[in-house]
Amino acid sequence: MNLQMKFNKRKVTIIGVGNVGASIAYALTIRNLAREIALIDINEERAKGEALDIQHGIPYMGIANVYCGTYEDCNDSDLVIITAGRNRRVGETRLNLIEDNKRIMGDIVDKMLPHLNRSATILVVSNPVDILTYKCAQWLGMERGQVFGTGNILDTSRMTRYIADYVRLNTEVVKCNVVGEHGDGQVPIWSRLSIAGVPMDEYCENMHIRWDDEIRNQIKQKVRQQGAEIIRAKGKTHYGIATCVCFLADAVLNQRLTISTVSSPFHGEYGIEGVSLSVPSIVGVNGVERRLEERWSEEEYARFCETAEKLKEFIN
Ligand SMILES: NC(=O)c1ccc[n+]([C@@H]2O[C@H](COP(=O)([O-])OP(=O)(O)OC[C@H]3O[C@@H](n4cnc5c(N)ncnc54)[C@H](O)[C@@H]3O)[C@@H](O)[C@H]2O)c1
Repeated sequence: MNLQMKFNKRKVTIIGVGNVGASIAYALTIRNLAREIALIDINEERAKGEALDIQHGIPYMGIANVYCGTYEDCNDSDLVIITAGRNRRVGETRLNLIEDNKRIMGDIVDKMLPHLNRSATILVVSNPVDILTYKCAQWLGMERGQVFGTGNILDTSRMTRYIADYVRLNTEVVKCNVVGEHGDGQVPIWSRLSIAGVPMDEYCENMHIRWDDEIRNQIKQKVRQQGAEIIRAKGKTHYGIATCVCFLADAVLNQRLTISTVSSPFHGEYGIEGVSLSVPSIVGVNGVERRLEERWSEEEYARFCETAEKLKEFIN
């Protein structure tokens, strides 16, 4: 593994400045993660408005220069974040977005290609994120993790929250992963769930906390349906994903290697290729530096393979 270091300007370009793109730009500025943030949207007026609005808070908090940019900004960007595309309507799954958002991704790749700095890292957020990550990597000809997607980071984060609430502890002690598709084909890896390194079964037994299939199923359903529930309630989801993107941007821009369940094209790991899925992955300046191969239960591995086969049908 070659975990390269490189110097960067901490410049971020965000393509698609709707609810998600604007929330990411705002979160990046208040956390001081970027020095320069270029906002691009097919609706230029919206990008200009969001840039001005965010820029006006910066004298009190933050140092970034936020402005409405063009595709030429991809030239010297260290990180390009793609959030353009329509969102789910009530009752839709993420896979219902595929045709519309694949067309939008195609348009963006065409416009990016003449300007793209080949050492930039690309982070895909638009849904269906696993399919679009695969397509974006393929169309840009950058298939080795330099293009990666947020994938299951949000599902993992939601599951961490529910488990922490269930055992009545702080989230930082919960170590869990949701892998597979950011959608219905997500697989919680119960076999490796721990509380500060203590296997969950053992922890719950010691603490006299109920831990069985029924409880696991309740948590799994809650995590899986959470996005749809928020959309039913407020028509969009954006704060949760914006915070997750900041965590990943920190790893890329500040070379703070971390491990996260993000999506990237597989090259034979777990016996799978030709699809982008989430597994715990080392994330750093070059995007996904490496996908970890863990030992899961037979059932978990079988579910993961089923998801891979299902997603392949949508890619081809
Ligand atoms: N990965 C995740 O966990 C996650 C979480 C939430 C939302 N999302 C996804 O993020 C995407 C954006 O959601 P949103 O709520 O911000 O939607 P939105 O409708 O608020 O914003 C989408 C933006 O994309 C722009 N756009 C459309 N076509 C474009 C093009 N060809 N070039 C440039 N810009 C273009 C639109 O003008 C709009 O401003 C959706 O696909 C949504 O499903 C992903």
